[in-house]
This record gives sequence, C-alpha cells and structure tokens, in this order.
Amino acid sequence: MSPLSITRNLPADATAAALRADVAQGLSATPKQLPPKWFYDARGSDLFEEITTLPDYYPTRAEREILLTRADHIAAATNARTLIELGSGSSDKTRHLIGALSGLHTYVPVDVSESALTAAGEALLAGHPGLTVHALVADFQQGMALPETPGPRLLAFLGGTIGNLLPEERAAFLTSVHDLLSPGDALLLGTDLVKDEATLVAAYDDPQGVTAAFNKNVLQVINRELDGDFDPADFDHVALWNAAEEWIEMRLRARRDMTVKIPGVDLAVPFAAGEDIRTEISAKFRQEGVRAELAAARLELTNWWTDSAGRFALSLAFRA
Ligand code: SAH
Ligand code: AVI
Repeated sequence: MSPLSITRNLPADATAAALRADVAQGLSATPKQLPPKWFYDARGSDLFEEITTLPDYYPTRAEREILLTRADHIAAATNARTLIELGSGSSDKTRHLIGALSGLHTYVPVDVSESALTAAGEALLAGHPGLTVHALVADFQQGMALPETPGPRLLAFLGGTIGNLLPEERAAFLTSVHDLLSPGDALLLGTDLVKDEATLVAAYDDPQGVTAAFNKNVLQVINRELDGDFDPADFDHVALWNAAEEWIEMRLRARRDMTVKIPGVDLAVPFAAGEDIRTEISAKFRQEGVRAELAAARLELTNWWTDSAGRFALSLAFRA
C-alpha cells in the first residue's frame, strides 16, 4: 500500500444530500442560518489558509507558539503511535507535533475537504517518508469509522474549530470523541479564549477583505452545487461579538429586498434588506468552561497551556 491512502467515509451523494438538507432547512428558518462546514470547498480551504496569515488573525500564530514549546511534553505524556486529527486542513501546525512524536506510526487526518487532505498528505510525506498517512474524508460530527491503527492514540482537534459548534453540538461531539478513545488515549484540544471585543472583531473583519470572501464563498458553493442564483455582491460580511454567549457571529446581511432561487432544493428564498444569514459562530472559552465540558464527556483535563500573550489555549485530556 502507498504510504498515503485516502478513504471516503462519506460517499459524494451523502455529502450532496447533507448540503441539500442544511440549505433547505437553514434558509427556511427564522433567523436564517447555514452550518460553517460548507465554507470549505477547495477555494474556501485556500481562503482559510490566507486568513491564517493575516496580521489580525492571531489564533493560528498563538496555537503554533504553544505547539512549538509544548510538543515534547505532549509526546512524552502520550507516547502516541497513532495521531488522529479532526478538521486537519493543511496540517501545517501539526508538523511540530509529528516531529516530536518519536514512536509515531500512523497519522490519520480527517476533513470534509478532500483538496486540503491531498495537499497536506503529500506535503507531510515529503518531510516524513517513513510515516503512514491514512487520510479520511469524513464529517467529524457524524459517526466516523477510523482505521485500525496501533495505540496509544492521540486525537488532536486544533485551531479552535470546536468553537464553530453550538454548545449542544459540542457536548455530543465530545462524547463521540470519548467513545473513539480507549483508556490511556488522549485528546489535544485547541480553544480560542475570551478577550476584549476589539481584538476579537478585528480577527474576523480584516481590512483586506479575505474573511469577507471566505464568508461569501458559501453562497458560491450553493450556486455551484444547487444551481442557486445568489449574487455575493448583494450581501455584506458582518462579524459581531455576542457578549452573552461569548461567541463571534459571522453573518451575511442582505443589501436589498430580493428573492434568491435555489432550484436544487426547489426553494425561492425571500430576503428583506438588512436581513442576516448566520453562517458561523466562533465561541471563545475560559479554562473552567473547557474543563467542565471535557468532564461532562468523561475526559479529564491534565494540562492547560496558553501562548505567552494568553490569547489561545491547548488542553491535554485523557479518557477517564
Ligand atoms: N486544523 C486546521 C484547520 C482549521 S479550519 C488549523 O488549525 O489551521 C477548519 C477545518 O475543519 C477545515 O479544514 C474544514 O474543512 C474542516 N471541517 C469543518 N467542519 C468539518 C466537519 N464537520 N467535519 C470534518 N471537517 C470539518
Ligand atoms: C476554523 N475556525 C476555527 C475558524 C475560526 O476562527 O472560527 C474559522 C474562521 N472563520 C473566520 N475566520 C476564520
């Protein structure tokens, strides 16, 4: 077998059916909403990578700093032979972990974006030719059939992507993570932290307009996959801090009254000027909240590390 294999956990028609269901339901609801996983076609994945280089988007740099300083500790504490990474994207920061895990046998990146998995797998193998990379195209919110690989296993969920799930989705997700792990296996979880509103909003509303293009990309996904006639220019990118929920909300705000046709789901969607589609939440965390959410899923927090500016945290937790 080649050292890079890619398995589709989700048949293409299941992905198409899930998109149809999410669009039909989300755009008929009040208020309108779409799940963030549909941002990530090939263009969306590229735009996300561009976001990670923006001066105002600090989470990627902050998490990289923690990984660089703590990778040896994580390696010694977990002795992982298999590293599973959910929502792995470019796997760029993960290199620091892979480099430190001296007994690592297999890396299992899991993502809905096949283009991101292919590029990441090829780049990784160039640097680690002895590693087996078993990439999985799958939705980490659905049941995942992970390959049989040697333990102990370390499951990484980086970037703060857990913050893109609603609280009830997070609880279900963490329980499913618990069920994927065996006793002695570990979870490495990246979470962005609550901080001042100006810093948070700037990270999601860059003057270069890259986050706006990322946000509007979901409309292009709907146009392409479901024959929609959204004009992205009819919508403004909005990023706001919801202080009660402690999350950033990204929205697309209609600039005028209009009706958008989406034949792929047999829908004509009316918009009033000023009406929003909520396209993403990005929850920000505090240590006690993370500890409690992990404990509710029977995952015990053993380490909490932040970057030197205290903006972002990495948690190490073990299956209790
Ligand atoms: N972990 C990387 C990428 C974060 S971007 C980092 O820290 O930089 C979020 C990634 O999660 C994207 O690659 C996206 O395709 C993936 N993703 C989002 N929702 C997903 C889902 N439900 N199932 C699997 N992958 C998902
Ligand atoms: C992937 N996720 C953690 C990013 C975030 O910060 O919530 C997605 C993103 N949305 C806008 N910018 C980046």
